[in-house]
Amino acid sequence: MSAIISIATATAPVNDTTEATYLTKDHHPFLVRPSMSDDASQVIAAINAVCAERIYLLTECYVPTPQWEEVLHTPLECPDHLLLVPQMDGQVIGWCRVFPNPFGPKVRHIADVGIGLLQPFREIGIGTVLMECAIEWAGAQGLEKLTVSTFSTNQRAINLFKKVGFTATGVRHRQYKVDGDYVDEVLMERFL
Ligand SMILES: CC(C)(COP(=O)(O)OP(=O)(O)OC[C@H]1O[C@@H](n2cnc3c(N)ncnc32)[C@H](O)[C@@H]1OP(=O)(O)O)[C@@H](O)C(=O)NCCC(=O)NCCS
Repeated sequence: MSAIISIATATAPVNDTTEATYLTKDHHPFLVRPSMSDDASQVIAAINAVCAERIYLLTECYVPTPQWEEVLHTPLECPDHLLLVPQMDGQVIGWCRVFPNPFGPKVRHIADVGIGLLQPFREIGIGTVLMECAIEWAGAQGLEKLTVSTFSTNQRAINLFKKVGFTATGVRHRQYKVDGDYVDEVLMERFL
């Protein structure tokens, strides 16, 4: 077991070989580490659980894009992608990803972030740790900017992203329709 790191100092370097243990706000330890192929089914289950809530993520369930499939099943073959998993009491309880833009050299300096936690594990500081680890990794990779987009109704996510240094750069109005109701998309970015 690695040393427990205070939640306030999520500065441990993260790469393919490192992991670190942190404390939630209520002092429960959780591990943060890169996802391994054995984690794939638990990560997909977590994504599906958050998708099933319907108000946080674009898709209705896990979508097996080439990027996701490669990162989940052959993570060592895509070192320019990061998929972190938080683990508590042996259970994968969410994910945080940093995926480079796949569309070639004009956007090679940026990457997109996505994050989700199972419902019982929210609002105890885990999202903050995951984002800080992701930002640390992205900087070490030489990336120049991270982007994220969220529903305008998701104030908790917006607050988290602002907390770790993202700024809102624009809104795409009525970008989504959730059960007949329009929802705006908030675009955010953080330079590294
Ligand atoms: C969004 C999410 C990743 C945030 O992670 P988290 O672990 O719950 O957040 P943290 O406990 O680290 O809190 C981070 C910040 O969020 C904000 N926040 C937390 N709870 C909040 C609430 N109920 N309302 C508004 N803001 C809130 C605070 O600014 C907090 O900072 P503080 O701890 O200094 O007060 C997590 O709640 C989640 O998975 N939600 C569902 C899926 C989702 O929304 N994913 C993101 C899609 S873009």
